[in-house]
Amino acid sequence: MSVLQPIRKAAIIGAGQMGLGIAYVSAVHAKIPITIHDPSSSVLSSALDKYKSLISRDVSKSRLTQEQADEALGKFSIVQGDGSGEGIGEPLKDDVDLVIEAIPEIPELKLGLFKRLGRILPSTTILGSNTSSISITKLSASAGSNLSGDEDRKKSSERVIGIHYFNPVPQMKLVEIIPALQTSQNTIDRSKAFGKACKKEVTTSSDSPGFIANAILMPMINEAIIVLEKGIATPEDIDTTFRLGMGHPMGPLTLADLIGLDTCLNIQKVLHNEFGDSKYRPSNLLIKMVDAGWIGKKIRKGFYEYD
Ligand code: CAA
Repeated sequence: MSVLQPIRKAAIIGAGQMGLGIAYVSAVHAKIPITIHDPSSSVLSSALDKYKSLISRDVSKSRLTQEQADEALGKFSIVQGDGSGEGIGEPLKDDVDLVIEAIPEIPELKLGLFKRLGRILPSTTILGSNTSSISITKLSASAGSNLSGDEDRKKSSERVIGIHYFNPVPQMKLVEIIPALQTSQNTIDRSKAFGKACKKEVTTSSDSPGFIANAILMPMINEAIIVLEKGIATPEDIDTTFRLGMGHPMGPLTLADLIGLDTCLNIQKVLHNEFGDSKYRPSNLLIKMVDAGWIGKKIRKGFYEYD
């Protein structure tokens, strides 16, 4: 049996709540140096502040010693740009073993990024996507699409995989691994080992819209919004029903606010388009909330208001 090459250095593209969480577990648990990339300097500086505060909280709760905290702070750096060298910033260097993208859940954005990264990074660099629903097989094809030789295209596609974390990443103990049709066994094995190094349990799903989690979760959230829209119950009563009646840690509307209503809508659009089944049609109220810009906890207003 061949020995798996460990991930020694990673880059995270996208410094929003998911990207920051993935960077945190990579640096603190997997103990590898990471760079986090985002075109926005304000998003990057806010990610750096949040990272520092997560580390301070770990020290105050005795989960890290001061020495371990200093080590974790030294492993984290921010870089402006999306790592592809297009637009702002320098392209990623070939010493990165793994890239995980956590950019907005918009198919054209992710396909474009994989096309650019597929061209500039050697085929030994794993390209992971934290997508909640978009086809990994399409992302994999995109990573090969900018190369001329058949062999180069094949190799570039084989290193693409879904590595899907859950929000809030430091707390949630799961990573879903989603191989594309083209993904090599070596990419699967190294990605699973990395998920475990981040102290997560790993499940595997084949490449189907929404994978395991969101194929089940998003219809549930959508139905909760429809119950609200029809005036059947208040947000508080819907959520209390799930917390106390079903033992969920938070109700579906609070959870939707945490995930982000824009993200929920984007995922539901992918499920609706890909399955072509009206049962996945996003509710009117969800669409209107996003149109109003009330996208949840990150802007302090969604189904609830936050201080
Ligand atoms: N970000 C970071 N940390 C957070 C957080 C957030 N949004 N919310 C809570 N926490 C932290 C708290 O600071 C606290 O940390 P300490 O241990 O340092 O004190 C810890 O989580 C526990 O928090 P609380 O005691 O305040 O509250 P809790 O016990 O109710 O736990 C929770 C909070 C972990 C979020 C829990 O409510 C929960 O598990 N909720 C369900 C979350 C969930 O289902 N996530 C998956 C969403 S789906 C997804 O992400 C995938 C996708 O593709 C859409």
